[in-house]
Amino acid sequence: MQVLEVKHPLVQHKLGLMRAKDISTIEFRTLTREVGSLLTYEATKDLELEKVTIDGWNGPVEIERIKGKKVTVVPILRAGLGMMDGVLEHIPSARISVVGIYRDEETLKPVPYFSKLAGDINERLAIIVDPMLATGGSLIETISLLKSKGCTSIKCIVLVAAPEGIKALEQAHPDVELYCASIDDHLNSHGYIIPGLGDAGDKIFGTK
Ligand code: PRP
Ligand code: URA
Repeated sequence: MQVLEVKHPLVQHKLGLMRAKDISTIEFRTLTREVGSLLTYEATKDLELEKVTIDGWNGPVEIERIKGKKVTVVPILRAGLGMMDGVLEHIPSARISVVGIYRDEETLKPVPYFSKLAGDINERLAIIVDPMLATGGSLIETISLLKSKGCTSIKCIVLVAAPEGIKALEQAHPDVELYCASIDDHLNSHGYIIPGLGDAGDKIFGTK
């Protein structure tokens, strides 16, 4: 599995701000979108281009445009919604495929409760977004769902990943790509990433 920890100074600076204990909902939400946007820039750097000739201001001109598969953004509810606009800033025409999964607080197992995918997801590049990759259960479940619908091209963007989750993802789906702002240290006994960000969903939605 290809894993990239994006060390760009803007990414690292913004992620650092997100770790502050008393960060406000609006600041956390804004930074989630901004880091999501910067990671999207990195995750799309290998999209294929093709040359085409168009009518320019001074006659025909050869330009490059993105070729190949169209994109669907896949936010994992809830917290993935906080990153979705960061992807759409760069790929405004992307279809949106929503997957609802929460993590059972006791077992830490993913509980799927909703999905509405692009009908032609088998022909699209899927960019899954979720701020946190902890045990990996939610992301693994989402990828299995997309693959069951014929999707063969999948990139995952998370803000913070735990080594335990990366290992589980690698075992379950070695064919996907993972982009993150940080690979953190470990999971605590409650399945939270340390140092991590705390509960990303609650911080984005202001529910705690
Ligand atoms: C969080 C997070 C991921 C998941 C990560 O969601 O946004 O989806 O946990 O944990 P995992 O890697 O161990 O599966 P949560 O269940 O808190 O739901 P929410 O987004 O609705 O708050
Ligand atoms: N979900 C979160 O929001 N944070 C974690 O650290 C782990 C799972």
